[in-house]
Amino acid sequence: MIRETIVTTVSGAGVVHIAPFGLTEAPGGWVIAPFVPSTTLENLRAVPALVANYTEDVRIFAGCLTGRREWPCVASARVAPPRLAAALAHAEMAVVAVDESAERPRFHLRVVHRATWAPFAGFNRAQAAVVEAAILVSRLTMLPREKVEREIAYLQIAVDKTAGAAEREAWDWLMAAVSAHYAA
Ligand SMILES: Cc1cc2nc3c(=O)[nH]c(=O)nc-3n(C[C@H](O)[C@H](O)[C@H](O)COP(=O)(O)O)c2cc1C
Repeated sequence: MIRETIVTTVSGAGVVHIAPFGLTEAPGGWVIAPFVPSTTLENLRAVPALVANYTEDVRIFAGCLTGRREWPCVASARVAPPRLAAALAHAEMAVVAVDESAERPRFHLRVVHRATWAPFAGFNRAQAAVVEAAILVSRLTMLPREKVEREIAYLQIAVDKTAGAAEREAWDWLMAAVSAHYAA
């Protein structure tokens, strides 16, 4: 079971970093597996804790992949990284073990605090489509163009039928990134 979250970490100097990550459920906790190199990975080595933010604001997923990394944060209760102000709920997690790998180390996490801030309002297909498109955008250099364009055409249907203003804005940021990638 993987949950798509927005992860907040901090550097040794206290600089906050915000990035989308899938967290894998594991016995007694969760696992984050950042590919090398990444700021999140460096931060976890310097300050071994993170916040998993559960949010329906998909602009944060799309924004982090398109150069929009500044999102309002609020101090956490038990760990150094802050939580997102937009989180419906969040979990503060401490790193308890690391499986080392040159390509993709796995950090085992234990929840030390959690809180809920707003109710879950139900599924929205455009939000799911934006998360899928964000994953495609994060892999543009690895995926064949034909696959990317076919999957975007399918995801576009859900966006056209079910998006609100935030989902449309997030979708437009991602589509601009796809166009720029193939124009380059
Ligand atoms: C929904 C979603 C899930 C992701 N999950 C992972 C992941 O598990 N591991 C990873 O290395 N990158 C993942 N990515 C890509 C990272 O968000 C992206 O590469 C990010 O910039 C991490 O690098 P950074 O810490 O240097 O910002 C994911 C992206 C999205 C949109």
